[in-house]
Amino acid sequence: MLGLDKGDHVTLTMDEAHPVSLLDTGVQGVIGKPLSRVDGPDKVSGAATYAAEYALDDLAYGVLVGAAIGKGRVVSIDAAAAKAMPGVIDVVTDFDTFIRVSQQGGETEAPTQGVRDIEYFGEIIAIVVAETFEAARDAAERLPVEYERGDGVFAFSMDDARDGDLPTNIVPARTEQGDIDQAMRDAAVSVDVTYTTPSQNSAAMEPHASIATWEGDSLTLYGAYQMPTSDAQQLAESLGIAADKVRIIAHFIGGGFGSKLGIAPESVAAAVAAKRLGRPVKAVMMRQQVFDATVRRSNTSQRMRLAARADGTLIGIGHETTASNLSTEDFFEPAGISTHFLYAGDNRLVSHDLVRLNWLLSGSMRAPGEAVGLLGLECAVDELAMALDIDPIELRRINEPARDPEKDVDFSSRALMPALDTGAKRFGWEQRPVRPGTRREGEWLIGMGVAAAARANMLMETSAKVAIHPDGSVTVSSAMTDIGTGSYTILTQVAAEMLGVPMDRITMELGDTNDVPAAGSGGSWGACSSGSAIYLACEALRGKLARAMDVAEAALTLKDGRAIGDNRSTPIGDLVGDGIEAIGTIKPGEQEELFTQASYGAHFAEVAVNRVTGETRVRRMLGVFAAGRILNEKTARSQCLGGMTFGIGAALTEDLIHDTRTGKLVNRDLAEYHVPVNADVPQLEVVFLPERDIHANPIHAKGIGELGICGAGAAIANAIYNATAIRVRGFPITLDKLI
Ligand code: MOS
Repeated sequence: MLGLDKGDHVTLTMDEAHPVSLLDTGVQGVIGKPLSRVDGPDKVSGAATYAAEYALDDLAYGVLVGAAIGKGRVVSIDAAAAKAMPGVIDVVTDFDTFIRVSQQGGETEAPTQGVRDIEYFGEIIAIVVAETFEAARDAAERLPVEYERGDGVFAFSMDDARDGDLPTNIVPARTEQGDIDQAMRDAAVSVDVTYTTPSQNSAAMEPHASIATWEGDSLTLYGAYQMPTSDAQQLAESLGIAADKVRIIAHFIGGGFGSKLGIAPESVAAAVAAKRLGRPVKAVMMRQQVFDATVRRSNTSQRMRLAARADGTLIGIGHETTASNLSTEDFFEPAGISTHFLYAGDNRLVSHDLVRLNWLLSGSMRAPGEAVGLLGLECAVDELAMALDIDPIELRRINEPARDPEKDVDFSSRALMPALDTGAKRFGWEQRPVRPGTRREGEWLIGMGVAAAARANMLMETSAKVAIHPDGSVTVSSAMTDIGTGSYTILTQVAAEMLGVPMDRITMELGDTNDVPAAGSGGSWGACSSGSAIYLACEALRGKLARAMDVAEAALTLKDGRAIGDNRSTPIGDLVGDGIEAIGTIKPGEQEELFTQASYGAHFAEVAVNRVTGETRVRRMLGVFAAGRILNEKTARSQCLGGMTFGIGAALTEDLIHDTRTGKLVNRDLAEYHVPVNADVPQLEVVFLPERDIHANPIHAKGIGELGICGAGAAIANAIYNATAIRVRGFPITLDKLI
């Protein structure tokens, strides 16, 4: 009927600003609302199926085996001994060390069958497959492996830092402008200090898990992955098969925080074993294996140099980071990422070097770069404020740049000072003890600290398909994921607003590479990229509905499942014949070059430090954030609360320790690796500032998932200084460093 074409594919490259967003004119009234998760009931009732929970027929159980040396090679594995154990089906060793597939999409190493070079302790060398999990675990624990030990580098030493030819990774490895050394000599007041941050683990609640099943030469993998489209490509590459032969299904993911951006060992191991056995294989990494053999955030050493005139004007900023990684990897923790644009100053140096270590490879963990880079930068700014005797917020105001100080472009939107000022008022900043170490309550020293938050905003090429059915219901499908962030909900809100359809009439189908490709969840780009793709598809569908109604698009109102215009009102299902659909694709474009895009905020913390024990208690925190349009106030707030809690961990507890004799991880589970628990987290307050960003994307939102962690730990560290007059420059700030 009505001659509607069924398919339509709209692509928008962000080459120009998008001044008007239909989300502002929508009348359904759901966008931005603090709605509860649409997938919440399924999650709490157990109906949501996670990767390890698919009950496939004839399933075999695989348990991974990690190397018991930190450097060297496997000489032999006695598979026969394991296979003699009851219930054991096979021991599979002939898969690539895939784990060295860089998280950022680097080259796969050639498979080294038979001889396996070990680059770090715990590197996966085999999968034992059995009829039951218990039998597989038993055999895996006893698998006889003979090694030849090599000489590893197990201790981080700045003497081993290698300057130089690292390729760009989110940011260039090194940029220089003016002369920082001269600026330091010319400065009336300066700081030259080094901050260190330890290795960290993402510690997602769900361990890495895969179930692999083959049909002919096609693989289906139920896997816990953040970016199924690119993960399927990585997996295909590791297996040496065509990308279209791999389907990844990841409907629900129990947290990722970067550790599930790229594929982890269990996926390839399960796939190879399943192929060999001719039956589906499940592999779930043990918690210790998640620590040993997925990915870590690198430790860093950050030399901070700030040079200022007596009035507080910065004339120089230096941020030189040394991180660590395997010798085979190019990824470096881009700790200087926001130092490029956060403060004014003519003379600038931002650099990154690597120390090559036989430690677990390092890669992206929540807000790679800013999360630890702002610990260095924002504590150093606090040190400068103290040296100048200027309020830390005023110092930031003095150095607020009008434009990007390095690239000579405008900011797309930037609400750093409004966030700091709003936060100061709400937090009672004027009550901060101006002189450190002067406020006491019994044996507790009380202090307040502040830090800026900033996180680069990214848009990634992503598609979504939206279909309106004859009954007026809507289906949205894409290989996008929800890693616990709320994608199911906020993307439903975008579609509901754009099509004027009640939330419960929309089915959101995510996490299947059989659907249109998506960049998935990472780098805080998920909501904006997928939200924009849905926006574009819905825009096309609105055009179709207007034509079907025979009204001008501008005169069309969509609300509660009805199309209204020209004094007529029709259920939208009646306008779509046997159904209409459209695919939207968003692509980054020139707006990323023409404007520096980032989300901003301000963190405030009040701490109490015990004079006797050195124990720090965070009493309260406030985060004020501006990230363009907030798509759902509740899920956005939850992301910020989670980020601020990560900040407490970074400041006070998290410290992933390698034994410097063997390279073995010392604290490789959640009992020994200390993330903040409920008792460590006080009532946190989150405030959003209203903002739109017309340069970012058609929905005018910016990334928020990682914003909450950025700067949070620095506010706590600065509060500890304010309380105690002790400046600790080695994170985490454990009690031994305060007595
Ligand atoms: Mo994030 S570390 O890009 O999942």
